[in-house]
Amino acid sequence: MLTEKLYMAMNEQMMLEFASSNLYKSMASWCESKGFKGSAHFLNAHAKEEMEHMEKLFGYINKTGNRAILGTLEAPKAEFGTLREVFEQTFKHEQLITKQIFALADLSLELKDFSTFSFLQWYTAEQHEEEALFHEIIEKFDIIGEQGKGLFMIDKEIGNLLRKH
Ligand SMILES: [Fe+2]
Ligand SMILES: [Fe+2]
Repeated sequence: MLTEKLYMAMNEQMMLEFASSNLYKSMASWCESKGFKGSAHFLNAHAKEEMEHMEKLFGYINKTGNRAILGTLEAPKAEFGTLREVFEQTFKHEQLITKQIFALADLSLELKDFSTFSFLQWYTAEQHEEEALFHEIIEKFDIIGEQGKGLFMIDKEIGNLLRKH
């Protein structure tokens, strides 16, 4: 059984992963409507990954004798200015998630819940990878440049970035 405080925090994290999935799905839709097919492909795939993160937490919470509760989600942002802005926001979002995961790991240690601490290691490693990935995308905007065929090239590169897990 998780302590009440950790249970609430884990459930909140589960909902945050759900919200991440919706945000990336919304971004994918925006990208597709603007003709950025590579980015739409990438973000759709990433939305699926976030749902897997949600499922993993859902499973863990229920396996520990608690019950995952699906709360209300706010509608994700739907309008974006530029493709660069989309990816700047994904990077910022991942940084926020990392902060939340660290806080959860911290709380589990404080409560001496070593099983949950161990479970969360997967998420800390995953966040490390995701931050690096999204940072790499932002660098592409600087390296390739957005003039002329630049945006087209960047979009193509993003489409080719899909990771296999
Ligand atoms: Fe995630
Ligand atoms: Fe993520």
